[in-house]
Amino acid sequence: MGTLDSRIAIVTGAGGGVGRGIATALAREGASVAIVDINFEGAKETAAQLVALGAEALAIECDIRESSQVDAAVASVVERFGGVNILVNNANAGRSQVPFEEITDDDLELTFRTGPMASIYFMRAAFPYLKQGYGRVINLRSGAEMIPLSGMGAYIAGKGAIAGLTRIAAREWGAYGITVNAIAPAVMTEAAKRYFDANPHKLAEVSQGKAIARTGDAEADAGRAVVFLAGPDASYITGTTVSVDGGSGFFM
Ligand SMILES: NC(=O)c1ccc[n+]([C@@H]2O[C@H](COP(=O)([O-])OP(=O)(O)OC[C@H]3O[C@@H](n4cnc5c(N)ncnc54)[C@H](O)[C@@H]3O)[C@@H](O)[C@H]2O)c1
Repeated sequence: MGTLDSRIAIVTGAGGGVGRGIATALAREGASVAIVDINFEGAKETAAQLVALGAEALAIECDIRESSQVDAAVASVVERFGGVNILVNNANAGRSQVPFEEITDDDLELTFRTGPMASIYFMRAAFPYLKQGYGRVINLRSGAEMIPLSGMGAYIAGKGAIAGLTRIAAREWGAYGITVNAIAPAVMTEAAKRYFDANPHKLAEVSQGKAIARTGDAEADAGRAVVFLAGPDASYITGTTVSVDGGSGFFM
């Protein structure tokens, strides 16, 4: 028996990285999980891993920048599982190492459309189901936003928007029994490895002052924090952010 038995979850960007860790943690607690990603191969791989654990899983190919594709993704989750209880807006693309004055229109489009805009698309599409008795939304922020990391201006602006939409949706949707929270993770993934391989000096910078001297894990750390916020013990917690960063206040 898990704390999320019979719950239905959507995790965006779960074809790898943090999203795969979150999807796995939710599945281990008994949730049926829809894995939404533009990378369909990755989504299918995650789904196969969850099925091997004995969970129900559905891989969905979706470009979350397009609201029509988001609506279709939510519809296919409802068709397959009968509703939506837990929504994790995890995917967020963007370019790093861009001086603020060199941020392009394309940078803004990519990071805002995959970040705050896609989060709203999914929340809007899932709302009719989230309000039917059990609704939890968990959005992804970043420590890089709270202690601004240089070279990540567009991304940090987008994460700031996610902070705002998390708080206002929590306020408005409390009346429907829906909680809306965020996590700000600092865990090692393939993308994080690529970033630190390209910027080795940044690893020392962000590791300084870390209270817990180990690398974070996508499933055991970020995933378990999401399980808590999605579960029965967090029904009185809304509009807040849990940093899962070893006390660094940074993003690694
Ligand atoms: N890794 C960390 O320590 C860390 C730190 C701070 C914040 N975060 C946040 O956690 C989340 C996941 O980070 P990650 O490191 O796993 O990133 P990642 O780049 O490894 O994974 C992102 C996933 O989103 C998918 N994706 C990208 N564009 C998409 C689109 N248009 N439509 C659908 N799917 C799309 C990708 O295919 C990928 O599977 C992000 O919101 C990120 O900002 C991560």
